[in-house]
Amino acid sequence: MIEFSREFLWGTATSAYQIEGSPLADGAGPSIWHRFSHTPGLVRDGATGDVACDHYRRYRDDVAIMRNLGTNAYRFSISWSRIMPRGRGAVNAAGLDFYERLVDALLGRGIEPMVTLYHWDLPAALDDEGGWLNPEIAKWFADYAAVVFRKLDGRVKMWATLNEPWVITDGGYLYGALAPGHRNRFEAPVASHNLLRAHGEAVKTYRSEGRHRVGIVVNLEPKYPASDDPADRAAALRAEAYMNRQYLDPIFLGRYPVDVREMFGEAWPEWPADDFTVIGQPIDFLGVNYYTRSVTRFDPHASLLHAAPVRQPRATYTETGWEVCPPALTDTLVWVRERYGDLPIYVTENGAAFFDPPVIEGDCLADPLRVDYLRTHLKAVHAAIDRGVDVRGYFVWSLLDNFEWSLGYSKRFGIVHVDFDTQKRTPKDSALFYAKVIASKGHVLNES
Ligand code: BGC
Repeated sequence: MIEFSREFLWGTATSAYQIEGSPLADGAGPSIWHRFSHTPGLVRDGATGDVACDHYRRYRDDVAIMRNLGTNAYRFSISWSRIMPRGRGAVNAAGLDFYERLVDALLGRGIEPMVTLYHWDLPAALDDEGGWLNPEIAKWFADYAAVVFRKLDGRVKMWATLNEPWVITDGGYLYGALAPGHRNRFEAPVASHNLLRAHGEAVKTYRSEGRHRVGIVVNLEPKYPASDDPADRAAALRAEAYMNRQYLDPIFLGRYPVDVREMFGEAWPEWPADDFTVIGQPIDFLGVNYYTRSVTRFDPHASLLHAAPVRQPRATYTETGWEVCPPALTDTLVWVRERYGDLPIYVTENGAAFFDPPVIEGDCLADPLRVDYLRTHLKAVHAAIDRGVDVRGYFVWSLLDNFEWSLGYSKRFGIVHVDFDTQKRTPKDSALFYAKVIASKGHVLNES
C-alpha cells in the first residue's frame, strides 16, 4: 500500500542557466555557459541561454504554476556570476535581490525552496584564472556561498553546494561536451578534487553562517555487469567507482576508490591528507539525481574505463538514449544507505525527455511515456522507503522544458511545455498526473 508521509516534499527542479534567460541583466557577469553557447559549433543548432524560459522576468508566473500543481518544494540554482560578476570580490546587489524576490514568492505560496549554489555556470572571469583547476577556487566558492547564506538563510532551509560533480568533470574537463570544454586526462582528477574541496569549504562556512541544513547533490547511475564473466564484473565495478563512488567515498569514507586511482594511473596526483578533513565535513542530507542505469561489459578499446554500455533489447529508451529502469532507482537508494549510512535523502532530480506532440486546442498535451516514467519511478521511491531508506522528498526534472546544455532546446524534460516562440506554458498530462499523486499523497499510485 503506497502512502507517503505528510511531511514528504513534492517538488520540481530547474537550474539557473537552463531557464532564466537575461544572463547579463542588472550587472551580472558572463558565465562559462554563456561563453560556451556563444562559441559556434558547441551547442546544437547554435542555441544559447540568452532567453531560455525567460524565467528571470516570468518567475512569478512560474511560481503560480508550481502552486497550481500542489507542489510544496522547489529546487533551483543560483547563478554565481549574478551575485559576483567576476566570481570574487565585488557583490552585485541586484543579483541577490532577484533570488530574494524568488524565495519570497515561493514562501508566499507555501513552497519550500531548496537552493543549489552551483549548477555548472562558473563565472567566466574565474575560468580565466583556471576555474576548477585552480586550488584557490575552494576559497572563492566558500566566499560566494557566505554572501548568499547571509542574505537568504532562514528563509531558505535546505542548501546544496554542488550539482553533480561527476558531470562537471567528465563533461567539462575529460571529454569536453560541456563547458568549459576541455579534454584532458590530467585535468579531470584535479577538477574533481577541487570541486570536493570547494564543497567542504562551503559546508564549513555554512556551520558558522547558517542555521539549517546543507548537503550535496550527486548523480548516481548504478552499473550492472552484462554477464557473470569476471572481466565484465570488474568493468562494471570500475564504471561504478568512477561515476558513483568517486565523489561519495571521499565525503563519507575519507578516501578515493582504488579503481579510480588505477584508472587515471600517472594522471592521478597524491593529495594532502588534510584535504580529506575538509571534504569529509558532516552533511545533513544527500541529494540523489537518478535517470537511468547502465549494463556494462569489458571493452579493452574503451578509453580509461575499459568498460562499455550494452543496449538492452527489450527495454524502453528515452530521447536522450537512457534506459528506463525504475527498479535501479530503488537499488541505488538502498545502496546509499548500506554503504554510507542512514542519512536523509532527497531524490533531487528524476525525469525523462520524450518526443512530445504539439500542444493541441484546449491546451492539452498527452505525454503518456513521461506519465509512465513518473508513475513507475515514484513507486520505486516508495519501495526504497519500505526498505528503510529515509527518503524525504522527490523533485521532478524538470518543471519546464528548458535549455538542455549542449543539446540546446532539442530535448524536452518539462512536465510543463514551453513554446519558445511565445513563452506560453502548457501543463502536460504528466503535470496533471503529478498533481494527482501529490493531492493523494501517492494513493493514486496504488491504482496502476
Ligand atoms: C542535470 C540537469 C540536466 C538533466 C538532464 C542532470 O544531469 O543536473 O541540468 O538537464 O540531468 O540531462
